[in-house]
Amino acid sequence: MRIRLFSILLILPAVSLLHAQTPQISEAGKACIECHSSSTPGVVEQWQSSAHAKKGVDCYSCHQADAKDPATFEHYGYKIAVIVTPNYCARCHAAEAKQFEKSHHAAAAQFIGSLDNMLGEIVEGGPRRTTVAASATAAK
Ligand code: HEC
Ligand code: HEC
Ligand code: HEC
Repeated sequence: MRIRLFSILLILPAVSLLHAQTPQISEAGKACIECHSSSTPGVVEQWQSSAHAKKGVDCYSCHQADAKDPATFEHYGYKIAVIVTPNYCARCHAAEAKQFEKSHHAAAAQFIGSLDNMLGEIVEGGPRRTTVAASATAAK
């Protein structure tokens, strides 16, 4: 597991560099940040120091409800998912997921579990989020 996480860390930034873009936060993202700066300041701070923030990947980029996801709800005028599953990450990281799978003969499910851990422990940090991510994984 340790080796797998490390490998992904090497792959993702390298691939992402190929399609780097100027940061531009969506209107929805701005609304999330404005309100969550007071309701969940810790979440906003973590996001602000993330690689995602630097590339304009905002709250709504990840939390925007997928049409096929039954576990979503209306939240201040935005349809969102609380449980951001690895399928949501794959909306942007599909190429990385495929490449990793091919080169390491890894089962997609194992890779996907790693993505969850990675976000919880590295991208956003914090034990609380790790717990949520872990239970999300266990629930599948
Ligand atoms: C007008 C204020 C407001 C706006 C706008 C807003 N939120 Fe929230 N949101 C809240 C509050 C308040 C909570 C409850 C905080 C808590 O758990 O203590 C919350 C909770 C959440 C939760 C956790 C829900 C749960 O059941 O644990 C998520 C995820 C979330 N918001 C994401 C978003 C996203 C993404 C956006 C932008 C599309 C957004 N919010 C916009 C105020 C807002
Ligand atoms: C890279 C994708 C991503 C981005 C960007 C992102 N989130 Fe999340 N968010 C997640 C994941 C993954 C979880 C962990 C729970 C889970 O497994 O779904 C989570 C959990 C949360 C929770 C509930 C857990 C908790 O700790 O209270 C809130 C609230 C939340 N996010 C709000 C936000 C807000 C506000 C922003 C923007 C400032 C944001 N998120 C940006 C993916 C993201
Ligand atoms: C809307 C598109 C989008 C979504 C959704 C998304 N990402 Fe990303 N992610 C990016 C971009 C763009 C970068 C590139 C950042 C860079 O090159 O500095 C990135 C970078 C990363 C990195 C590298 C971080 C670093 O420090 O260089 C990791 C790890 C990552 N994403 C994991 C995830 C996980 C896990 C999820 C799902 C919870 C997710 N991403 C959802 C677009 C996205």
